[in-house]
Amino acid sequence: MAKTYYVTTPIYYVNDAPHIGHSYTTIAADVLARYHRAAGLDVRFLTGTDEHGVKIVKAAGEKGVSPQQLADEVVVHFQDLWDDLNISYDDFIRTSQARHEKRVQTLITQLVDRDEIYLGEYEGWYDEGQEEFVTESVARENDYKSPVNDEPLTRYGEPSYFFRLSKWIPWLIEHIEANPTFVQPVARRNEVLSKCRQGVDDLSISRLLEKLGGWGIPMPNDPAHSVYVWIDALSNYITALGMPPIGDEHDGAFEGHWPADVHLVGKDILWFHTVYWPCILKSLDIPLPKGVFAHGWWTAEGRKMSKSLGNFVSAEQIRQICSEYSRDVYRYVLLRTMAFGADGDFSRNGLKGLYNTELANGVGNLLSRTVKMIGKYFDGAVPGAGQADADAAGVIAAAEDLVSSAGPAMAACAFHTYLDKVMAVVDATNRFIDATEPFKLAKDPSQRQRLEMILYTCGEAVRIVLVYLEPFMPETTVRGLDQLGWQRQGRTLDEVGRWGVLPAGAGVNKGEGLFPRSV
Ligand code: MSP
Repeated sequence: MAKTYYVTTPIYYVNDAPHIGHSYTTIAADVLARYHRAAGLDVRFLTGTDEHGVKIVKAAGEKGVSPQQLADEVVVHFQDLWDDLNISYDDFIRTSQARHEKRVQTLITQLVDRDEIYLGEYEGWYDEGQEEFVTESVARENDYKSPVNDEPLTRYGEPSYFFRLSKWIPWLIEHIEANPTFVQPVARRNEVLSKCRQGVDDLSISRLLEKLGGWGIPMPNDPAHSVYVWIDALSNYITALGMPPIGDEHDGAFEGHWPADVHLVGKDILWFHTVYWPCILKSLDIPLPKGVFAHGWWTAEGRKMSKSLGNFVSAEQIRQICSEYSRDVYRYVLLRTMAFGADGDFSRNGLKGLYNTELANGVGNLLSRTVKMIGKYFDGAVPGAGQADADAAGVIAAAEDLVSSAGPAMAACAFHTYLDKVMAVVDATNRFIDATEPFKLAKDPSQRQRLEMILYTCGEAVRIVLVYLEPFMPETTVRGLDQLGWQRQGRTLDEVGRWGVLPAGAGVNKGEGLFPRSV
């Protein structure tokens, strides 16, 4: 049986339209899913929407619709954008689906049975935008406003069920210390550890259902209360795998696919994923995910994106970029602009710069030069490899470095390192052409063998580049490989992602430039 790989995105709130931030995590997850499928793994890629909680209720109220109507309307915006960005998810979970709600209730019952939950009284601050309880000291530090969106915090005082979170914290600290890749990147891991060491209170995990207009999952032990939206939401990662089993068609996927290989999240929601979620799983004797990776945040044209500034890079703008360039270009630029984990700025100039230097003048130019020369000097048939010389050795070394670094880079969500290695092959090959001047050698019949070796090297280098770029740019790379007269034909990365696979005699055909330089 093939090894499995399970990757998730956060499930997105349906009070708002999708924007660049949502697309970032989702594209990153798609790249991981496509890479691991190419590597021959049995991949499961989950995304979805988070449909309960006070902010959904409020947004629905403002629009004069029911929360369910709002969710039904907005979920389509997410699904449409994912289609438009060529996102290959295997499952899309909505927290208002019966398959999820019933399983969350079963999980709560199990927590009650294990005495992990008790009834208390919640008295304190709540950040409705983040759906997060805020301690007095943090509230005071931030002038009783949300540190994330600057909206005033709300005072809550009501009976609430609590999860015995604090008793698991010593265990959690040990787990994080013993598993260096459980929380990534390392700076975030240190933040989580130091916050845990300062002490963590038990967690309020219910809200009075009537205060949410009845919109939530009722606590099975006390239906006047609803399950706190974060407990509801985090559970999606296992409910989507049919866990716990409840006798429907979703039962059974858990065994093959859990634990998740990685939960991708933004830095603002790392705490929920690395503290609440593991402790809940632990209290239920369910294995923990292998890792949680927190990426950074985008600003737009140098400014923080916010509702008040109205400067989100919206789904509409994303579509416009996709039609001006292509969706593959958008995908590439998002993962290329900054290291995954760091913050970065999205700007039209930055996009154009990357497009011109790396895609049009880099990859696109390399492919078109190579195909053109093979067409002209070898009647369009890839020549034999011959004996690589010292010049070619530089290209082969760059390709081999890519081949050996790709797996570890993907395991670490280091898309930037991976793409650096791809671009190193492109640069080495373009330099190789400039240094060896095949167009001059072509005029000298005594140089025929050397010319063969040079053009084979270029063809094979560009094939490797395209094969490794495929998870990022699935459509463009297939077109490029077609021009080289080569197709993957279902073979795994192990079989085709190494030097020397391009057969002599492959028939190249000049096609449209992959990245027309008209922008
Ligand atoms: N519903 C919760 C997640 C529950 S997961 C069990 C949620 N939803 S969200 O829609 O508000 O945000 C989803 C993701 O978008 C978060 O990971 C957040 O970091 C990300 N982003 C929101 N704005 C962003 C940027 N400006 N830049 C990058 N990512 C950003 O939180």
